[in-house]
Amino acid sequence: MSPRKKLIAGNWKMNKTSADAVVLAQEIVSAVGKQTDVDIVVCPPYTALESVGKVLDGSNVKLGAQNVHPEPSGAYTGEISVGMLRALFAGFVIIGHSERRTYFKESDAFINQKVLASLKGQLRPILCVGETLGERESGSTLRVVQTQLEGGLEGVSRDLATSVVIAYEPVWAIGTGKVATTEQAQEVHAFIRTLLSKNFGEAASQKIRILYGGSMKPQNAPELLAQKDIDGGLIGGASLEARSFVELINAAASVK
Ligand code: PGA
Repeated sequence: MSPRKKLIAGNWKMNKTSADAVVLAQEIVSAVGKQTDVDIVVCPPYTALESVGKVLDGSNVKLGAQNVHPEPSGAYTGEISVGMLRALFAGFVIIGHSERRTYFKESDAFINQKVLASLKGQLRPILCVGETLGERESGSTLRVVQTQLEGGLEGVSRDLATSVVIAYEPVWAIGTGKVATTEQAQEVHAFIRTLLSKNFGEAASQKIRILYGGSMKPQNAPELLAQKDIDGGLIGGASLEARSFVELINAAASVK
């Protein structure tokens, strides 16, 4: 049995008004709100954090955000700080998602600042790493993942490292319906754990959860989640409907 509790996180991206998000959150809470075998996180857009947070209150479903700015306050029009998220009781934040790396040109150095600021403010980062199709085809997957992982985690102490969640998301599998094979995913997950062990020690590396993300669906989840180093999923498309999201949570709960 894995020493790590599985974690299923829903990344709702730029979907759902606050009112729509409340409906989805209510459906999830009524189906799996008492589930304790699996950790569950939902990451609605900023505009729905407060309303969804109220629905989740008292349940085992935790609240996460999709991004954060590293500065505590100031003249950063359009940005949101760690303190603002904590004030809404968000416990997690997705950092370095490939969509932010691609469309908003986020660098490993900037991502690293966000990780450090989040940890300082008791917000648990879900740090995303992953290669593009071109990078995989040219054989540089592991090098890319290593650069993103070590760049993102620079300066993180051993003690705080166990609060971090890693999400391996091959960019070519996100929203495309193409899922990494279990061998491809497990290979990178095992590599990430080796790097974590090198950087933070073996004991910490055994506690850090590494999620897979990229077209994870109820059909392919059981096989992926059964891999030794796959500790859960970061789910986009299939998290937008309670039924498929709940099926994924149940799939995670039934992996021994
Ligand atoms: P997907 O997205 O499940 O729709 O592929 C995953 C993600 O981007 O986190």
